[in-house]
Amino acid sequence: MNYQIAIVTGAGKGIGKAIALALAKQGCDIVVASRTQSDIDKVAREIEQLGRKSLAIRCDVSVEEDVQRLINETFKQFARIDILVNNAGIGTFASVADLNVSDFDKMWETNMRGTFLCTKAVLPYMKEQKSGEIINIASLAGRNAFKGGAGYAATKWAMIGFARCLMLEVREHNIRVITICPGSVDTDFHPESSKGKDTSRVPKAEDIAKIVVDALKMPRHVMVSEIDVRPTNPNW
Ligand SMILES: NC(=O)c1ccc[n+]([C@@H]2O[C@H](COP(=O)([O-])OP(=O)(O)OC[C@H]3O[C@@H](n4cnc5c(N)ncnc54)[C@H](OP(=O)(O)O)[C@@H]3O)[C@@H](O)[C@H]2O)c1
Repeated sequence: MNYQIAIVTGAGKGIGKAIALALAKQGCDIVVASRTQSDIDKVAREIEQLGRKSLAIRCDVSVEEDVQRLINETFKQFARIDILVNNAGIGTFASVADLNVSDFDKMWETNMRGTFLCTKAVLPYMKEQKSGEIINIASLAGRNAFKGGAGYAATKWAMIGFARCLMLEVREHNIRVITICPGSVDTDFHPESSKGKDTSRVPKAEDIAKIVVDALKMPRHVMVSEIDVRPTNPNW
């Protein structure tokens, strides 16, 4: 890959960590961001062990000042931004009747406002460079309805709509927008539902990371704009 500098949000664990490590193995230097400094410090050390540079920046993607600092520090250190991975996300699953207003708000602030803030902040740099890659980790919950998913699914539905409009706006600047919609992935995201279940056939964070790398490796004149990822074992 010809890319050099990637920012991965929510890179302290799970899918974000796997994407950060996979991009480092492809030769990128990586800025890892999340709210827990100890997690991202650990991931940054793993990236450095792979022979790449890494910067761990504590950032809550829903806070505009945090995001601005993340992008400013990245540019100060590396002088370009090739890839943004909008991965940070949370989910609280409850019926509409039972979902707390504060949990509803937090999901919107993280999943959608965070995606908007990070994207908006990198666009001037990518437009100036006349190239860039914006990867959004949405979800099959943004395509399919299920009981208890209204709050979370709405944010992921919104992310997909946001990404489609964004793609039409920025492709003329040679910026690709690639949205990945995984179904269940074996991470800490829903520890309760995986307890005691056989997850051997459920996609792993590393599988999602491989999909991201493969999509980025498509010839630069081609954009795979949306990818759905399903487990082969629907009974999990
Ligand atoms: N696992 C699945 O089944 C699945 C399926 C489809 C889509 N997804 C999506 O994939 C993404 C990653 O999920 P995952 O399974 O890897 O979850 P995870 O294991 O819970 O990891 C989430 C990461 O996001 C970070 N994060 C959460 N809120 C943040 C905020 N406000 N600002 C910055 N970082 C934040 C967390 O760190 P801190 O808490 O320390 O900030 C953590 O590093 C999410 O967008 C999720 O919706 C997951």
